[in-house]
Amino acid sequence: MKKYTPICANFPHFLHGGDYNPEQWIQTPEIWETDMKLMKEANCNEMTVGIFSWAEIEKEEGKFDFSWLDTIMDKIYENGGRVILATPSGARPQWLAEKYPEVLRVLPNKQRIECGYRHNHCYTSPIYREKVRIINEMLAERYAKHPALAGWHLSNEYNGACYCSLCTEKFQEWLREKYSNDIEKLNHAWWTRFWSHRYDKFEQINPPKESEMGGEGGTNGLNLDWKRFVSDQTIDFAQKEAESIRKYSDKAITTNCLGIYAGYDHRKMAKCLDVYSNDFYPAWFKGTEAEAKAVAFVCALCRGMKDGKPFMVMESAPGINIWGMNFRKIKTTGQQILEAFLYIANGADTLQYFQWRKGRGSGEKFHGAVVDHYGGTDNRVFQTVKKIGSYLKKMDGVIGTGIEAQVAITYDYDTRWALDGEAEIKWSSRKNGYQKMTNAFFYALWEQNIAADIIGYDTDFSKYKIVCLPVPYLMDEKIATKIKTYVEKGGTIIATYLTAVANDTDLCYLGGVPGAGLRELFGLRVDEVDNYEEEGCVYQNHVQYQGKEYPVESIAEEIIAEGATPLAWYQQGEHKGNPAVLENRYGKGKAYYIGFAGNDTFLYDFMKTLLQQTNMHPDSEFTAQKGVHIMHRQGDGQHYYFVLNCTDDTKEVTLHKKLWNLLEEKEETGVMKLAPCGVKIYYEQKKEN
Ligand code: GAL
Repeated sequence: MKKYTPICANFPHFLHGGDYNPEQWIQTPEIWETDMKLMKEANCNEMTVGIFSWAEIEKEEGKFDFSWLDTIMDKIYENGGRVILATPSGARPQWLAEKYPEVLRVLPNKQRIECGYRHNHCYTSPIYREKVRIINEMLAERYAKHPALAGWHLSNEYNGACYCSLCTEKFQEWLREKYSNDIEKLNHAWWTRFWSHRYDKFEQINPPKESEMGGEGGTNGLNLDWKRFVSDQTIDFAQKEAESIRKYSDKAITTNCLGIYAGYDHRKMAKCLDVYSNDFYPAWFKGTEAEAKAVAFVCALCRGMKDGKPFMVMESAPGINIWGMNFRKIKTTGQQILEAFLYIANGADTLQYFQWRKGRGSGEKFHGAVVDHYGGTDNRVFQTVKKIGSYLKKMDGVIGTGIEAQVAITYDYDTRWALDGEAEIKWSSRKNGYQKMTNAFFYALWEQNIAADIIGYDTDFSKYKIVCLPVPYLMDEKIATKIKTYVEKGGTIIATYLTAVANDTDLCYLGGVPGAGLRELFGLRVDEVDNYEEEGCVYQNHVQYQGKEYPVESIAEEIIAEGATPLAWYQQGEHKGNPAVLENRYGKGKAYYIGFAGNDTFLYDFMKTLLQQTNMHPDSEFTAQKGVHIMHRQGDGQHYYFVLNCTDDTKEVTLHKKLWNLLEEKEETGVMKLAPCGVKIYYEQKKEN
């Protein structure tokens, strides 16, 4: 495979740096001088600047002062660094909210918020959009040709929704377009005759609300379309931001996403970006092995966003993270280093942190940073960052290489929204079911050192030997046809319980499940859906597969085979002796159906058999002990093997040939010891066929 073009064409090195807030130190510019020295000492070469700087650039409406930013841009460049410059839309100045209250977000209960916090503007407000356009264009025009500029960072972690009248009207307009201005089409798609919810006109439609807030929350189609609208509106806002930058600059544009955050469709967001980037905050206190695979999963999702193209790690914590956790557990030095290489091994081409320097006050003053309040360089976190930076300097060759996975797992935001909507009406086992099952497929492969991509329904399936469809509850007929064609031509599909139950507006298919024409693909029909998950449920069930018994954790579907061959059977309950897992030949390929929610061991064993049958094996260059994971990046004949000990114990790995150890700069072969969280990177140059 060929290498991808580097994110920064004129700086083909690992960007190593992170969020820098020099405006917080505007009264002590000597700190800026120190930062420059420390940047070099920490082996950092990048600063992400301007994310929350609006109030310091435009102190009064229309009066712009870029002088401090000019100084910072120049200084970073003079010190050998590069800048990812942010647009400041993530937080607005007070004067803007005071003069134009429409920019402030409205909560579902119709209360308009006060100015404060961040990420809380209305995405529809024409005034906010215009003010953002003006400042963005000024930034783009001013810095487009600055030699320090490496790329653009739109806003910050776009998220949330607004319920103001402007958003409501925009939602109605969005619906009009979707349903061809025909309210009866919408009434049918949302099944509104249920509880007499029929609409006479689009103007009657409000955003959904929790029932205790007094409003409509029980129409699944409405809930789903609202989520789609919020996603589209957020992406449209980002798109407009990107356009204002592109008018002046040709540097790469990104925004820091949060791949598994369900507030918008990240795959659609990725389309308006030149490069996908993500913020990562693993919870290492949960254990090295558990978190390592969770990180690898998100990385696979990130590299799938732009069909395998390397992504950016825009934020990660040097030391502790303070959000989303009830307590503050430091990461070990080993975990910090492992974390860095997990990202890169799994397809990242940058390593950036939040944050460069701890502020003296306010909400993130105790958040991990490269530079501590202490200010010295002999502390553990600074030294670890410095060490990582010294490694990255040896890795220019890795830039632009990709991962050739033969297995893919689909991840569809619409399906997730639809299933979350069902969870709200308390069919408990569907709660988190989507995320859990998607993870479970990935982990089953990760444990066997088989790389998997996380892809969308729009991705080309033909390059994969196996495509896994976890809980594909929502199924559009076009996608169903694509799946059938893939199998017909020789592909292998694995789907789970709740396959193609409903169409894309969450209307159940008539004529048997799987719907959308997939009954013939799987050669079966689901007759009933049983469930064992509820607390207090005294019944249990097991499934027998290849002579071994596995517990049913929640869903257990009663399946009628219509040509498919059973591979596993229920052991108890009403459906004792009936099939739980089936295989069906279809055209040149095969379709597998897993009708129950089992534990990780089942999926591991099931995938193991399938991998053997499909002749898929881990890289033959190595034999590794359990807990050691090997990722292979390649491009233009260059091969990099990342050997990662994702445990807290010493492990062994055997090299079956001589390979170049990139970090330690020597040739190695035979049995190698890996310290807890230890990392080795091996390099090989091969002739391309
Ligand atoms: C991120 C955010 C950063 C910072 C960080 C702290 O979600 O983008 O600005 O707040 O969290 O962990």
